[in-house]
Amino acid sequence: VTAFLQTLAGALHRTGFADRVERRRRRARSAYAPFCRQVGGVPAPDRPRGNDGDLLVGLLHDGVPVRGALDPRLAKALVGADFADDGLAPGRWELTAFRGLVAVRDRAAGPGAGQVYIGEDSLRFAEAILDAAPHGLVLDVGAGSGLTGCALARSSERVLCVDVLDECLAATTVSAALNGLTERVDVVSGRFQDLDLDRPGRFNCIAANLPYVPVPAGLAYSPAGNGGPDGLGLIRSLLKRAVELLDPHDGALVMRLASLGDERGPLLLLDDLRGFAAATGYDVVVVADGRVPYELRAALTAKLAGRHNPDRDPVELLDVASAHLRGYGLPLHLACGLVARSGGTGRVDVVNLAAPLLLDRPVAPSRPVADVLAARDRIAAGYWRASRDLPDGFWELGTEREVLAPLERMQAVVRALADGATVRVSAERVFADMFAADPVRARSLLLTVELLVQQLLDCRLATARPGR
Ligand SMILES: C[S@@+](CC[C@H](N)C(=O)[O-])C[C@H]1O[C@@H](n2cnc3c(N)ncnc32)[C@H](O)[C@@H]1O
Repeated sequence: VTAFLQTLAGALHRTGFADRVERRRRRARSAYAPFCRQVGGVPAPDRPRGNDGDLLVGLLHDGVPVRGALDPRLAKALVGADFADDGLAPGRWELTAFRGLVAVRDRAAGPGAGQVYIGEDSLRFAEAILDAAPHGLVLDVGAGSGLTGCALARSSERVLCVDVLDECLAATTVSAALNGLTERVDVVSGRFQDLDLDRPGRFNCIAANLPYVPVPAGLAYSPAGNGGPDGLGLIRSLLKRAVELLDPHDGALVMRLASLGDERGPLLLLDDLRGFAAATGYDVVVVADGRVPYELRAALTAKLAGRHNPDRDPVELLDVASAHLRGYGLPLHLACGLVARSGGTGRVDVVNLAAPLLLDRPVAPSRPVADVLAARDRIAAGYWRASRDLPDGFWELGTEREVLAPLERMQAVVRALADGATVRVSAERVFADMFAADPVRARSLLLTVELLVQQLLDCRLATARPGR
């Protein structure tokens, strides 16, 4: 297999695989779309046209069987390394690329994803790691596809990747080989909590994008996402363990996480971060770069829980997830990057880049409805720009339809606002048909309608009053 992977690595390099995927991504609706074919609005991939580069992207990224002549040595390598079956139809692994690194995940046998996770957060996390450029000995907690480990290996001497799923360790090994980083990437199977290491303080960096989905007790969920009832069980354990594992004088902690909170930041986690900072003397900076209302997180959880709970009704799952999150009394689920470095004074800073929540505020048009609608082109232009930066997870729930809908029904939205409705009530009223048809997916409209209303504010065509 090693020789097959080497052959494939050479072919990916020669045919510009990573650049081809990045070009797709630049045209996609999300700058962090892991597989560009999945993003709404991207035209179906061209039928591979026959050169090896097109055929490889078609087979490995899009899952299109190879029709055409492929270099026989390459064909043998694809089959031998489990990227294709004997008829050159898609095999066990599919492949994506980000910032010049490639990473595999297992192709899902049925509906939904396989066991190896690659999401928008994976790409944001890899970017943060490349920016942080850690050195020395690194621990990669929750290796997943190996993208994280390979990003770490770009700047460091050696990376130890740990994961509970053997499929993830297999993926990490394949990704490392395809990136030519095998020499610097080691894998170990198990839970990070049980790691038996010979001496404390040995790591110069710990990187982790651990599961962070708040999952109600009794609901089956993927181990790649399940973070326990408040979503933070594993992250808290790691913050405690990291105190002992990290070099006190020369270290960094780089994490991707999400937490319930409000405009002040990921409130549920702040005490744990302060505990870590006080114990290590590291300075911690948390940047919240995206947020969704908790109702949207609940819808996403219900949708993803569907395939693990086939006997339960989607609307029941939605009710269970919503009631669970409502219980925390916090309006937002914030997506965050975290970087902590040694040599500080043990402080914790939170930077919130996410826009304030408008949903429960009445937003009154400041001009007659007809005048607001006359500015439709200006509003739409701003809306399209902003819709390229929808928060992580949006595209797992919503589609191009939920992005187009607020523009199509702009008149009704503006009228509902003029009647004094909050943004939420306007959305539920104007899109009552879509909420009735698919209550899970329709929750993505809360975000897109809010985004449209934000454009009215930005164009000074409306003013927001304080919420209730
Ligand atoms: C959200 S995925 C992230 C994978 C990868 N680092 C990335 O960013 O794409 C989380 C990974 O953590 C692994 N995991 C979950 N619990 C773990 C534990 N206790 N110890 C080690 N790994 C764990 C899961 O199997 C999964 O692969």
